[in-house]
Amino acid sequence: TADNVPRAAEDPLFGLMAAYKKDTFDKKVDLGIGAYRDDNAKPWVLPVVKKVGLVLLTAGVDVANSDIQADDLLRKDPDLNHEYLPIAGLAEFTTASQKLVLGADSPAVREKRVISIQTVSGTGAVHLGGAFLSKFLPQPTPAIYMSSPTWANHNQIFTNVRLPIKSYPYFSSETKMLDFEGMISTLSSAPKGSIILLHACAHNPTGVDPTQDQWMKIAEVVKAGSHFPFFDCAYQGFASGDLAKDAWAVRYFVEQGFELCVAQSYAKNFGLYGERAGAFHFVTAPGPDAQDTVSRIASQLAILQRSEISNPPAYGARIASMILNDENLFKEWERDLKTMSGRIIEMRKAFRDKLEEFQTPGTWNHITNQIGMFSFTGLTEKQVGILKEKWHIYMTKNGRISMAGLNTHNVAYVAESVSATVKE
Ligand code: LMR
Repeated sequence: TADNVPRAAEDPLFGLMAAYKKDTFDKKVDLGIGAYRDDNAKPWVLPVVKKVGLVLLTAGVDVANSDIQADDLLRKDPDLNHEYLPIAGLAEFTTASQKLVLGADSPAVREKRVISIQTVSGTGAVHLGGAFLSKFLPQPTPAIYMSSPTWANHNQIFTNVRLPIKSYPYFSSETKMLDFEGMISTLSSAPKGSIILLHACAHNPTGVDPTQDQWMKIAEVVKAGSHFPFFDCAYQGFASGDLAKDAWAVRYFVEQGFELCVAQSYAKNFGLYGERAGAFHFVTAPGPDAQDTVSRIASQLAILQRSEISNPPAYGARIASMILNDENLFKEWERDLKTMSGRIIEMRKAFRDKLEEFQTPGTWNHITNQIGMFSFTGLTEKQVGILKEKWHIYMTKNGRISMAGLNTHNVAYVAESVSATVKE
């Protein structure tokens, strides 16, 4: 068997990260992976996470004989241990997560029409949803339509669960805006009952989101085709600093009575990248049978979860749960979200200003129009190569930059390098 295994290509994003780490140039810049960095290009542990994180780390520690400060222990739970979580995860976490994304006053939450399962971050949630749909959709399985382009991992995750993949136009490279007409026309002609993958906010990789009016039209078309909306929500609160605004599209679809699902990640908005905290929500349609549907779907999701990961990891979910369920910590978190989104918005302005100051050919207004973690610069693969080889600036081949990699110390250097490269 071993002889039959072909070699696969290295993951482009993690490969880029490794190449960056190896580079010894002192002015090197990492604009690759979508992970927040502070103004000194360092990972940022959110102050509110630091606070509760310290408390949780004391599980099983002999406190009296450790050098942990009394303040760190104020909210320590004496019953904390390292036992398994239930298959569906920590209940206070999934309940709070449901309210966070759907809204506490959501009709679906009120009518108890939502099944929520804790997952291995957003990736695990996308996978669990894909595995579930692949198993229970009618045969032949309808295709899942994803935006062109989309997060590279979407393609492999849905391929792994054997869902047929199709795409809808999303980004116009001419206008560097949404190709709304292309998107609507493809969704309108998709076979009835297709799955439509949508980015809830801060589209990865383009940073381009539909307006609220456009979302309404998308909902109309999705409804007319009896399609199933699948939201990937990885940037709530991180995109605009406003949790409700970033969840607007999901909440609107739920109000329209759709049966849908949501993959929710806490990597970016809590900075819990490596802790793999996230949730999958299946919202059933309103109606007299909703409760029965809820219990049938929950039972199947539990079997899938048990067979794949048994039960989810506890640490990150405990941190998120403590913050989501405490009014004061929640407020602190909202301030931290504003710190991150605010710094990124400032960097968008600074980067565009510098590019224009250096009279870089082309227009650069899209840098400030786009939102969230990424900007789709329009740089070509060749230019991306030059920026890496000559200027030690790392970004994905499609010209996507992680805005969080820019800071007050390197933004002029990056703009100058991009400008020189575009002029070459
Ligand atoms: C990204 O697109 O850079 C992030 O979402 C990280 C990842 O897992 O790909």
